[in-house]
Amino acid sequence: MKNHINVSRAGKSIFLLFLFWNAFVVAQDISVIPIPAQLQKGIGYFTLNNLTRIAVPAQQADVYKVASYFAVKIKPATGYNLMITESSQSGIQLGINSKPDTRIGKEGYTLEVTTDNVFIKANTSAGLFYGVQTLLQLLPAGIENNTEQNIKWQLPVVSIVDYPRFAWRGIMLDVSRHFFTKEYVKEYIDQIARYKYNVFHWHLTDDHGWRIEIKSLPKLIEVGAWRVPRTGTFASNAAPKPGEAPTDGGFYTQEDIKEIIKYASDRYIQVLPEIDVPGHSMAAIAAYPELSVTKDPNTKVNPGSNFAKWFGPDKFEMYIDNTLNPTDEKVYQFLDKVFTEVAELFPFEYIHMGGDECYKGYWERDVNVQAFMKKMNLKDSRELQGYFNKRVNKILSAKKKKLIGWDEILEGGIASEATVMSWRGTKGGIEATHQKHQVVMSPAPIYYLDMHQGDRSIEPPPTYAQARLKDVYAFNILPSEIDSAFVLGGQGNLWTEQIAVEQHAEYMTFPRAFAIAETLWSPKIRKDWDNFTERVESHFDRFDQSGVNYSKSMYDPIIGVRKNEAGLLEINMATEVNGLVIYYTIDNSIPNQYYTKYTEPIVFPEDVDMLRVITYRKGKPMGRLISIKTEDLEKRIKK
Ligand code: ACM
Repeated sequence: MKNHINVSRAGKSIFLLFLFWNAFVVAQDISVIPIPAQLQKGIGYFTLNNLTRIAVPAQQADVYKVASYFAVKIKPATGYNLMITESSQSGIQLGINSKPDTRIGKEGYTLEVTTDNVFIKANTSAGLFYGVQTLLQLLPAGIENNTEQNIKWQLPVVSIVDYPRFAWRGIMLDVSRHFFTKEYVKEYIDQIARYKYNVFHWHLTDDHGWRIEIKSLPKLIEVGAWRVPRTGTFASNAAPKPGEAPTDGGFYTQEDIKEIIKYASDRYIQVLPEIDVPGHSMAAIAAYPELSVTKDPNTKVNPGSNFAKWFGPDKFEMYIDNTLNPTDEKVYQFLDKVFTEVAELFPFEYIHMGGDECYKGYWERDVNVQAFMKKMNLKDSRELQGYFNKRVNKILSAKKKKLIGWDEILEGGIASEATVMSWRGTKGGIEATHQKHQVVMSPAPIYYLDMHQGDRSIEPPPTYAQARLKDVYAFNILPSEIDSAFVLGGQGNLWTEQIAVEQHAEYMTFPRAFAIAETLWSPKIRKDWDNFTERVESHFDRFDQSGVNYSKSMYDPIIGVRKNEAGLLEINMATEVNGLVIYYTIDNSIPNQYYTKYTEPIVFPEDVDMLRVITYRKGKPMGRLISIKTEDLEKRIKK
C-alpha cells in the first residue's frame, strides 16, 4: 500500500479534493484477480494490527478453518498472532448467512471493509474462503513475504459482492512427462487456490511414467514410474539403451495422495485423477506387457524419445504400441483394480479416463482383434474404442463415479451421462453440448499452458503453437454455436513434456492462469485488458515477495514479417501491453533507449544480418533483448 491518508473533513472543497485523490490512490491499490463482480471503493482504511480479532460463529468448524487459514497466511509477513474468537465488536468477522444471499450462490461472498471492521459473509464456507483470498489481495504485496515486514497493514475501505461465472474452474498438471514432488504439487495447488480455481486435474499416467501407487498392481510403480534419465529436448531424446538403468522418475504413495487431497480440500479444490487409457499407456505396458495386443516384453517407459510420426493434428502413427487391448477381459480386470483403488482414494465425483490420441494401427493389424470386432458388430476401430469407453464407464458407474474424458470419447459413442473435456479446439465441446453432454472447455492451443507465450526465438520450449497472454485473456469460452447450458466451465492445461523443473512450471502457468481465472470467475462484462495488465503487474510484485516465478513475456514485442512490393523484408512490430516503447537495431549493436525508436515498419536493406529489439517503459527495460537473424525472419514468411 503506497499511500495512507487521514481524512480531515475540514471543508467541502478539501473533502472533494480528497475524494478525487483517494479514488486515484485506491485505484492503484485494489488489484484483485479475478476481478470481483461488483466492487465499490470507499474512503479510508482499516488497519490490521496484532490485537485485531477474527470473529467466527460458535461451533462452525469450517468457518473456524477458514479463519485460521487467514491467520496462518498473514503471520510470517506481519508477525501477528491473530486471535480467533467467537464474538467481537470489531475486527474481521466471518459468517454464514442465516438466510441465503441469492445474489452469490454457493461459492460467492460479500466483503465489506470499513474503517473499523471487515465483514465477510457467504452462503457456504467455500464462499468465505474466496472472500479471504480477496482480503489477502487487498493487503499490501508484502503480505506474501515469508519474513516479517515493517509495513502498515492497511485494507482500503471497499464493498464487494462477488461470485463465479462458472462452477468448474480447473488447472491440469501433467506429472507423468516430468515428475513433480508431493511438496511441489501442494505449492502448485496453493497458488491456484489463491486465484479461486476449484479443480486440480492431476494427469497421473502416460507413456512417460505411471505416478500413482496401485497396491494390487505393484509393478505399475516399481517398473512404470521409472525411465532412463535424459535432459534433452522431448521427442528427440535417445531411446533406452540395452541394459541402461531406469533411474529417473517417481510416484505418489496412497498416503501422499491422501495428504494432497486433504491439502487441496482445505483450499476448496477438488482433485480430479486422470488415468489415461486406452492410448498413452506405455508405462503401464512396460510394467504389464500382456495388457497390449503386441505384448512386447521389451517395452520400456518412454524417456522422451520419438515414437510417433504426425501427419496432421489428428493423424499419427506410433512405432511403439502404447495402447491397451480393448478385446481382452484381463484388461478390464486390470482397469477394475486400478479404478477401485482410485475411486476409494479420491472423493471427487469424477474420474478422468483420458481417451485421447489412441493409435489404432496395432488393433487394426491383429487378427484376433478383427475377429472380436466382427463378432461384436463393431464396424471400425473407433467403434472399438467406443466399446472400450463404455466398459470403462460401467466400471466407474459401479463405483459411483462419473466418467469424464478428452473429446475423442465422442467418436465411437459414449454413454449420455459422460462429461467431455474439449481440447481439440472448441469443436468437440460444441458437438458434445449438442449431444447434451456436459462439457469442460480446455481448448488447445489457447488454454494449453505449455504453448509458448511470446516470440518463439526467445520462448522456451519449442512448441507447435503460441498462446499469448492477451489472446488467452480475450478468448471467448462460449462460442456462439455452443449450448452454454451444458458448459460446466473451463480449464488451463500444463503439459510437461518440455517442463522439467518447478520454476519453469510457474513460468508457463503465470500470468496466463490469471487470465483464465478471470474468464472463469468474473462476469464477462468486467473484461478490460488494460486494467487487467495493471493488476497483473501488481501480482508480479506479490510473486516477487513470495518467490514464485512467472513470465514477463507480455513485455516483449510482437514481431511481424512480410516481403514488400519491392521484394524486401519488412518488419512490423507492436506491443501486447500499452505504454511500451520499442527500440531496435539492424546493425548488430545492442539497442537500448538511446537507439532508434520503432514508429513504422522497417524495410531491411538486403545485407542486414540481424534484428535486435527491446521494449522500455519510462527509461527502464521491460522486455528482454530479442535477436533474430534475417534468415530466421525470412523463414517466418508464409509461402
Ligand atoms: C491432449 O492434449 N492430448 C488431451
